[in-house]
Amino acid sequence: MNLDVLLGLQWGDEGKGKIVDFLAPKYQLVARFQGGPNAGHTLEFDGIKHVLHQIPSGIFHEGIQNVIGNGVVIDPVVFMKEIEALKPYGVPYQRNLFISKKAHLILPTHRLLDAASEAAKGKEKIGSTLRGIGPAYMDKTGRNGLRVGDILSPDFKKRYQKLVDKHKGLLEFYRYEYDLNESEPAFFEAIEQLKELRLADTEYMLSEALQQGKRVLAEGAQGTLLDIEFGSYPYVTSSHTTTAGACIGLGVAPKAVHEVLGIFKAYCTRVGSGPFPTELNDETGEAIRRAGHEFGSTTGRSRRCGWLDLPALRYACMLNGVTQLFMMKADVLSGFDEIKVCTHYKLSDGTITRQMPYCLLNEPVEPVYETLPGWSGNIEASTAYEDLPRNLRHYVNFIEEYLHLPIALVSIGPDRAQTILRKNVFSM
Ligand code: GDP
Ligand code: IMO
Ligand code: MG
Repeated sequence: MNLDVLLGLQWGDEGKGKIVDFLAPKYQLVARFQGGPNAGHTLEFDGIKHVLHQIPSGIFHEGIQNVIGNGVVIDPVVFMKEIEALKPYGVPYQRNLFISKKAHLILPTHRLLDAASEAAKGKEKIGSTLRGIGPAYMDKTGRNGLRVGDILSPDFKKRYQKLVDKHKGLLEFYRYEYDLNESEPAFFEAIEQLKELRLADTEYMLSEALQQGKRVLAEGAQGTLLDIEFGSYPYVTSSHTTTAGACIGLGVAPKAVHEVLGIFKAYCTRVGSGPFPTELNDETGEAIRRAGHEFGSTTGRSRRCGWLDLPALRYACMLNGVTQLFMMKADVLSGFDEIKVCTHYKLSDGTITRQMPYCLLNEPVEPVYETLPGWSGNIEASTAYEDLPRNLRHYVNFIEEYLHLPIALVSIGPDRAQTILRKNVFSM
């Protein structure tokens, strides 16, 4: 079967949006399987930058169906703003965009609860995007949630009110001040607009597409190190960001998965709180942030920067069954005399390991680095892999050998065109 999964192997913002848009012409369907408006996926082409939050990154391609799967949590207000932003470009979203009736809704009170919960945590806050993600998934697993399909039901408002009454009790517990009158009208307006779009049983749609031999690309959000099961808990998001999450979040069987395309930056970034072994709180970290414009696509927050963490990347490849690697932002590391790569962790008892400890908070690790020669010059206009600096290709080989996986694509700039596909290792 022809389901390929593309997902982030670090703490998000690896460049998933850019690559899904780049690869989309090879597929008939692109489907988001988890997350929601916490995601910010940036696409750049024809000199224009687009940021998508819930809409799949295949949307700009004529003739490709885009699916928002059951595993996604949808904020209707954010969603309608995204639709508005697409209108000037003549994107045929009425025809090409399908929303699972089983996707859960983010209510205005979910956002309030996110803010209240973070405020109550004080210094231990997750650093959430405050988009209501955690509370919406809590209601889903707590079996209280409202789903997109429910908006068609005559008693939707009654059910909405029941859930909001429960939320009001929780907000009282947090002693959180709010005014729902500010957000409710926009919510119900967006719900009416949502009814005009294609709400579907997308699991059937995907199954039929795969049966007919169509190619489907599942688009992940966030990254493996933010996964609810395997990320740096509790500093994680509330969904399954791994390959298994694609099956759950779309309703496709594991045997349908073909290629697993794992995407990573040539260095690491993290936005929000939580452990980050290779973080650089110095001028080098600042230089990476400046060169990589490392500011959040959703919240504008400054991203924490550090060297590449290979034990963490190896862990992510293992959990996802990655078959091909895509390395992003190689251009950002241009100009450093030396580049460090973390190859092992040193534990507090002196043990050297490549394994991720149970909890990085209780068992902090010291990164063990290997230093590689850097490269320089403007590589953003290169079109062939062989034209890239020798030391950059050496960096690629080093990672490939460590992970025993091919790096099939190297990205050298934000534009769709600044992408070097190494056809020799890309079997599509
Ligand atoms: P996503 O969440 O994984 O889709 O990634 P984001 O869009 O949040 O963040 C990636 C950022 O890096 C965006 O601003 C992209 O335009 C930009 N970007 C993607 N690939 C490259 C690259 O190869 N080089 C540079 N310099 N920027 C890139
Ligand atoms: P994309 O898809 C980077 C981070 C937040 C916070 C933690 C929990 O663009 O890669 P949440 O709002 O989910 O409760 O926040 O996860 N986070 C992301 N970081 N990229 C993202 O998405 C993220 N989505 C959530 O900063 O630390
Ligand atoms: Mg992002």
